[in-house]
Amino acid sequence: MEWGPFNVPAHMALSFFTRDRKSLLARCRDDYATKMRLKYAPFYHAMESQDGTTVRLDGKDLIMLSSNDYLGLSFHPRVIEAGRAAMLRWGTSTTGARTSNGSRTYHLELEKRLAAFLGREACHVSVAGYLACLSSVASFAQKGDVILADKNIHSCLWDGIRLSMATVERFSHNSPDDLRDVLNAINSEAAKMLVIEGVYSMEGHIARLPELSEIAEEHGCFTVLDDAHGFGVLGRQGRGTADHFGLNERIDIICGSLSKSLASTGGFVAGSSEVIEYLRTNSKQTIFSAAISPSQAACAQASLQIMQDEPEHLERLWSNTRKYRALLKSLGLDTWESETPAVPIVLGSKERVYPFWKALLEKGVFTVMSIAPAVPAGKDLIRTAISAMHTDEQLEQIAEAMAYAVRKL
Ligand SMILES: Cc1ncc(COP(=O)(O)O)c(C=O)c1O
Repeated sequence: MEWGPFNVPAHMALSFFTRDRKSLLARCRDDYATKMRLKYAPFYHAMESQDGTTVRLDGKDLIMLSSNDYLGLSFHPRVIEAGRAAMLRWGTSTTGARTSNGSRTYHLELEKRLAAFLGREACHVSVAGYLACLSSVASFAQKGDVILADKNIHSCLWDGIRLSMATVERFSHNSPDDLRDVLNAINSEAAKMLVIEGVYSMEGHIARLPELSEIAEEHGCFTVLDDAHGFGVLGRQGRGTADHFGLNERIDIICGSLSKSLASTGGFVAGSSEVIEYLRTNSKQTIFSAAISPSQAACAQASLQIMQDEPEHLERLWSNTRKYRALLKSLGLDTWESETPAVPIVLGSKERVYPFWKALLEKGVFTVMSIAPAVPAGKDLIRTAISAMHTDEQLEQIAEAMAYAVRKL
């Protein structure tokens, strides 16, 4: 190897000296948001250990109050054992895409069970909820189509919309009236798609599915429902938002994540057989991306079975949620009218969010800040989420921490 100055290989020395000529490197170096993030370190906390809803950060035990482990199955012995057994049987990874060398019978088994649970003909699983939901839009819509999108949908759905190259029309969050107005105004013969969430991850709102899906039917919209936060939480045994309203047949695609109630990592898209087979032919996120690993799939499948065998987790989730919401209400906190275990505490500005978050941390409660533009201006908030795994003692400690944070405001 050729060596340059300062004992570094010549090619690295070259890049060191030409660094300033690369405007993309300058963009990274000068990025204000990155500088602020590194200065205040509000994100990317690496916990040193975890035991259920207790995590250790900087040597201190904290209650995790912002994970999406709604049913609390991530430490369930059957889930852990399923993941271990799958790895022993199948190895760590298939190291390939489903299309080519990466498909295994365990994928088909999980898909069959998810489809049956959701009352769908077929299902397709992938490595991330983000990719699954993105592909639920990008695989079906194309240039010339019109997508009707709730203004508050998740980033993965916006990415899917952009990739599809379809025209997008936004409507006010969860507003059937605005959806109807927008559809009447565009009056287009183009193919149409409605993109909504079942439970909105930041707000905790449940989609007004009866009205929205009725309007979608009237206008011939193909409906995509991202139920990442409704799955496991709403409906019979946690079948999700469509089941909660008894409107399964009105929704063309239900997509979601394996990394929330299913206590794994990955995503799914469920629908009719012809729609799922079309996705398998056309989704770049499937064709060119590796299959989910044996242990990920096995953990999701075990959780799915537990959801059906052990109703106590769902019951506990909702009783914890009711207690928690009552607590926040008694403290006069604004929860954006959340109806679900995803409960935001809206504080309205980053100047109020940061000290509130710090005060909770001081009292042993870990939460996540979400500030504009991640949320609409004036809605800067602390995102909290309740789990079935939170104990009564933890809920008491959370109550004390909240009262303390409110006093500090
Ligand atoms: C509504 C919604 N869809 C999709 C995703 C992506 O899921 P995953 O984290 O499994 O990639 C999330 C994640 O937070 C989400 O909130």
